[in-house]
Amino acid sequence: MLRRILLQKKIETLSLQFKNDLSEVRNSADLDLLKIKYLGMKGPVRELMKELRTVPEQERPLFGKSINDLKTELERSVETFEALLVNREQESQLNAETIDVTLPGRHRFPGRKHIITAALEEIIDILIGMGFTVEYGPDIDTDYYNFEALNFAPDHPARDMQDTFYISADYLLRTHTSNTQVRVMEKHEPPIRVIAPGKAYRNENVSARSHVFFHQIEGFYIDKNVTFSDLISTLDEFIKKLFKSDIKTRFRPSYFPFVEPGMEVDIWCLKCKGEGCPICKHTGWLEVCGAGMIHPEVLKNGGIDPEEYTGYAWGMGLERLIMLKYGIDDIRRFTENDLRFLRSFPGV
Ligand code: DAH
Repeated sequence: MLRRILLQKKIETLSLQFKNDLSEVRNSADLDLLKIKYLGMKGPVRELMKELRTVPEQERPLFGKSINDLKTELERSVETFEALLVNREQESQLNAETIDVTLPGRHRFPGRKHIITAALEEIIDILIGMGFTVEYGPDIDTDYYNFEALNFAPDHPARDMQDTFYISADYLLRTHTSNTQVRVMEKHEPPIRVIAPGKAYRNENVSARSHVFFHQIEGFYIDKNVTFSDLISTLDEFIKKLFKSDIKTRFRPSYFPFVEPGMEVDIWCLKCKGEGCPICKHTGWLEVCGAGMIHPEVLKNGGIDPEEYTGYAWGMGLERLIMLKYGIDDIRRFTENDLRFLRSFPGV
């Protein structure tokens, strides 16, 4: 009798305790623990079932049913709570995912080409359209290809340590892309119509006008009967295509050891249209490149007979062209990585 009352009491207490614990459950981890605590192998429900054996035979069905009812009650509660939790979790996930369509958009800046790359690609495209192919010479080269093969006398001031970065007694950083000329001549038979874009290096003080490295585009054409007027018309056409206007060009005699005759090419100042302004130092003209007819000695160094072939060459500074085109006054801007500068080129 006493045992029966005790067992009945136990069942009721357990049910109450369970309800109490359930009210503390906050998430599915808590619920799992609760499940193990009450319904696990070592839980109190199991214990009760074992105790059933101590109850007199005729009372067992009654108690067995009470224990089973308790078990079913606990299991149902756990299931119901589980469903509730899943709902709650889905709801809070949905809430977190809600999009506030009234928020102002965040501006994203996709990556874009550096103006040097973009301008170089544009120039290469124009020149390919004019019949040139692209070759690349090495940035690190020998004195021979950079100077000697290009007819620089051994005591030419450009070889001075002031201008040239020597890497060793034999190697230097090319001071111009003209180092590609003789290399290409050695490799190909005329007709040769090549452009050689790339970096050039000079040991100079960095200032608004000069830098220790910059980009150049070398161009040359070697064939039978290439004339000075071919050179002039090619440069004229190229410049008009690049600046997309009928811009005026001017050619002035100048000296470079590897061309004869040599010249410098000016364009009409884009800012003042030839009137004179601080950008063109009040001359109305801006220098854009050096050019000339390839010196017979240079052709010979490239294994080409100057009696049979003639050629022209030019070399232009890329930064300078971009500065003229966009009115930039300081060459250092290109390497400062100021995003406001880099993003300021329309359509690039
Ligand atoms: N290499 C020269 C320089 O860096 C530029 C140049 C001038 C290149 C005349 C040429 C040329 O091909 O014919 O100053």
